[in-house]
Amino acid sequence: MKGLFIVLLIMFVATPTLCARVTPNAGSRVFNIFSYGAKGDGQTDDSQAFEKAWGDVCNATQGTTTLLIPKGKSFMLRPVSFEGPCKPAAINIQFEGTIIAPKSVEAWKWPENNNRESWLRFWRINGLVIKGGGTFDGQGSAWWNKHSDRPIALQFLNCENLALKTLNLVNSTRSHITIASCKDSIITDIYISAPDDSPNTDGINISGSSNILIQDSKIESGDDCIAINHGSTFINVTGVMCGPGHGISVGSLGKNGAYNTVEDIYVRNCTFQGTMNGARIKTWMGGSGYARKIRFEDIILIGVKNPVIIDQQYDALIYNGLSTAVKVSDVTYSNVRGTSASENAIILSCDASVGCTDIVLNNIDITLAAGGKTSALCSNAHGTASSFNPTVSCLS
Ligand SMILES: *[C@@H]1O[C@H](CO)[C@@H](O)[C@H](O)[C@H]1NC(C)=O
Ligand SMILES: *[C@@H]1O[C@H](CO)[C@@H](O)[C@H](O)[C@H]1NC(C)=O
Ligand SMILES: *[C@@H]1O[C@H](CO)[C@@H](O)[C@H](O)[C@H]1NC(C)=O
Ligand SMILES: *[C@@H]1O[C@H](CO)[C@@H](O)[C@H](O)[C@H]1NC(C)=O
Ligand SMILES: *[C@@H]1O[C@H](CO)[C@@H](O)[C@H](O)[C@H]1NC(C)=O
Repeated sequence: MKGLFIVLLIMFVATPTLCARVTPNAGSRVFNIFSYGAKGDGQTDDSQAFEKAWGDVCNATQGTTTLLIPKGKSFMLRPVSFEGPCKPAAINIQFEGTIIAPKSVEAWKWPENNNRESWLRFWRINGLVIKGGGTFDGQGSAWWNKHSDRPIALQFLNCENLALKTLNLVNSTRSHITIASCKDSIITDIYISAPDDSPNTDGINISGSSNILIQDSKIESGDDCIAINHGSTFINVTGVMCGPGHGISVGSLGKNGAYNTVEDIYVRNCTFQGTMNGARIKTWMGGSGYARKIRFEDIILIGVKNPVIIDQQYDALIYNGLSTAVKVSDVTYSNVRGTSASENAIILSCDASVGCTDIVLNNIDITLAAGGKTSALCSNAHGTASSFNPTVSCLS
């Protein structure tokens, strides 16, 4: 009798838990891309299926919605715009398969309303999470060196709380990821790969955004691994392996006389391998504004051509004779070590007009990869240096 009572008690206690497991959680719903007619054969244009699915996902009344893109399948998409605002507070794209761009430039078939800026655009979506180990393949080689108006692969515009996790991006036609006018977002465990001679295939290009964290990622590209552009504040980059590529760059800023600003940038624990530049700030003559409160810390260099470089006269050949520049100040390079592929391991090339001020070099040890001594080039840079190799004569 007592035994039966216990069994009944256990059933009573356990039943609600069991029910909760088998009934879909009322606060969340999963949409499978195959319910929308996607073929997933890597050949058929699956764009319409994605557009239809997005309509349902974005309009779902649940608190959280998931779009499932299953593994082992390849979806060919022409340019698609995923637009919000959406009803769910959070949207997960569980992306396990492959999304591939059309192979030829002609096959892109731009829709009427598309500005041709990007392949896949995510616009005005808050709480978007894309994760799951999937691959975006931009098929860029058909475009490189043949077309000048190349689109970005993934463009995120006007977003909050975006998260990109465990994703692969290969061979974009232009930048792989651009983040513009976004805030409070994270990019983590991303692998980006494009050949070192592919043009403008930046890894991640950020502008007009704040509170962005990029971490634990590997980027191989033909241009900047990460470019931090106008209007960016509170951008952290940590645990990024860059190379090949042109380094992690602030700018370029001030092109064509623009007023541009960037501040509060913190790049830490990053490795540059065989890159053209390491930690770089580049601004154009003729522009105005500022790049300030920038910190590069715990940086490892392996055969980098220009490991530490501030270039306030970027492309001085074009802008020769102009007398304004973007002000560069409060920049710290701390614990930067490894090898340089060229003798001038440190270049602080600033313009006499505004110069670079409060430049701090601390704990720098850069040797020549081929053996021998490195040196520093300096003009109009002011600040302090302690514990350094090479010697930086312009800093006190
Ligand atoms: C959501 O539904 C409305 C009304 O049916 C429609 O106009 C809108 O396009 C839908 N949103 C998306 C993203 O498809
Ligand atoms: C990327 O493009 C290069 C050059 O066309 C090619 O060799 C490479 O295999 C491509 N990568 C992938 C993953 O398709
Ligand atoms: C990076 O973003 C900036 C600012 O939006 C833009 O001017 C530039 O063309 C972008 N670079 C690439 C390679 O897409
Ligand atoms: C960036 O790093 C700073 C200093 O550690 C920290 O206070 C801030 O919260 C970080 N921001 C982001 C977006 O990770
Ligand atoms: C530095 O970054 C690497 C990835 O490149 C990561 O494994 C390691 O934990 C990071 N270390 C610190 C102290 O953040």
